[in-house]
Amino acid sequence: TKLPRLYSGMQPSADSLQLGNYIGALLQWKDLQASHDAFFSVVDMHAITVAQDPHELREKTRRTAAQYIAAGIDPSASTLYVQSHVPAHAELAWVLNTITGFGEAARMTQFKDKSAKQGTEATSVGLFAYPVLMAADILLYDAEIVPVGDDQRQHVELTRDLAERFNSRFGDTFVVPQAMILKESARVYDLQSPTSKMSKSAESHAGVVWLLDEPSVTRKKIMRAVTDTDGVVSFDRDGKPGISNLLTIYASLTGRSIESIELEYDGKGYGDFKKGLAEVVVETFAPVRERALELLSDPAELDRILARNADRASEVAEATMEKAYDRIGF
Ligand code: ADP
Ligand code: NA
Repeated sequence: TKLPRLYSGMQPSADSLQLGNYIGALLQWKDLQASHDAFFSVVDMHAITVAQDPHELREKTRRTAAQYIAAGIDPSASTLYVQSHVPAHAELAWVLNTITGFGEAARMTQFKDKSAKQGTEATSVGLFAYPVLMAADILLYDAEIVPVGDDQRQHVELTRDLAERFNSRFGDTFVVPQAMILKESARVYDLQSPTSKMSKSAESHAGVVWLLDEPSVTRKKIMRAVTDTDGVVSFDRDGKPGISNLLTIYASLTGRSIESIELEYDGKGYGDFKKGLAEVVVETFAPVRERALELLSDPAELDRILARNADRASEVAEATMEKAYDRIGF
């Protein structure tokens, strides 16, 4: 039987992924890969929509791919590849650009936010067209399901609109995909400012737990996490954002319910709770970190894996591209 196609990706925007990427994306991807024909991309073409150092970009791309594998994405069960290795992404993006309204693209809130921060002169046309490239990523693989965070919901909507528009103008070509929005219970907040999402691109890294941090650094960051003064380990997102965040992390990594963790730490202090959580995070990440470093120490083998997967991705993407080109009269 044919499994439903799934597409997702992450930008290679740091040397290490962070705890939120692990809980919000990698853990879910790992769960979904058995029941789907999954394509997981390291989207380096998206990364160059803002200025990049070439040496660093190449390094971050390899490291991101290695962390996908280390976290449990199986490159022989799923197609795990680097976006720029498959030229069809750029080709389809161009075609989709021509059926995207200027106003439609200008309404994307992520573009509005990012370009407002950078100013019009520093903002590239590539950043403007970013959501169209994302539409191409998804449509090339006939993906039915696109697991994304809530911030990408609008981009998946645009993808659906473009697929339907192309299909009605040129004949049935693309599968119209559906967003699978990340559960709020899988959202991780910054340990130092627990009302902001933990992010690779946070201004301060004090509250960011990196997948590749050494265990002693991870422990320190968790022990220093911002909490409150009432001393009760209980979940209350608005009243106790720090402790609630730590409980979410604990529950996500152990598969336990929040209630059972609250019960375990009933009558104990925050210090004990943090120590317990630090062990959970370190135990989860230590083998992932080791495996990632092992993969990175053998660049030729990692390259072989990525080349093999790019071939598999290209096969699917080129077939879609051929169909699309034919439809538009090329
Ligand atoms: P970052 O902010 O770290 O650069 P991205 O925006 O590149 O992360 O998102 C990559 C993936 O990780 C997406 O699937 C996103 O939903 C998920 N993700 C990012 N940060 C978090 C977080 N704090 N909690 C849960 N999931 C997250
Ligand atoms: Na980001």
